[in-house]
Amino acid sequence: MKTMKFIALLLFSGSVLFQASSCKKGTDTDKEMLDMAKNTAGFVWYKFSDQLLPKSNFSGHNEAFLRTRYNTVAATMLDSTGKVKEGIIFPEGSFIVKELWNDASTLSTYAILWKQYSNEDADASGWVWGYIRPDGEVRESSKKKGEACIGCHSLSGNIDLTAMNVAFP
Ligand code: HEC
Repeated sequence: MKTMKFIALLLFSGSVLFQASSCKKGTDTDKEMLDMAKNTAGFVWYKFSDQLLPKSNFSGHNEAFLRTRYNTVAATMLDSTGKVKEGIIFPEGSFIVKELWNDASTLSTYAILWKQYSNEDADASGWVWGYIRPDGEVRESSKKKGEACIGCHSLSGNIDLTAMNVAFP
């Protein structure tokens, strides 16, 4: 009888623990951003071109090539040449993906900016910063709120902390 009670208790506490961990807030932000980055439908490319660009002198990344795309919300902030309009603040829901490529056939990493003021991982400007490989490996957790990114992204000429216009005028 004692064993039965013990087992019942074990099962009960196990299910409580399971429920608690499955509704933990925020832990899925990286995964959510990866899924959003992988679904390329509706994105608009910087300067309307999907050509890979050789990395700029400003970039802190090792990968040789990159290209950047904007979801439909973020794309409302592009001008008629596909560059980011000067002086704008990206609206809630903006999602920007910089694809980093080692060579023309090897996608290495998605660098992501997601404007979501209410997200617990958002920085003071409402950006959530993602740095994730296509296989799901997280290179920099969104939990860190862009700690490794913001300093460089505050470069002179940045537009709401974005840097494409500076690096590729
Ligand atoms: C040493 C400087 C530097 C660091 C550090 C850096 N970036 Fe960038 N980032 C750039 C530059 C410059 C660009 C413009 C494109 C290019 O040249 O790579 C850029 C572009 C981007 C873009 C495309 C949108 C835009 O116009 O800015 C995203 C998204 C991005 N970075 C995310 C990140 C994330 C996430 C991190 C941190 C994990 C990070 N970056 C760290 C310099 C940096």
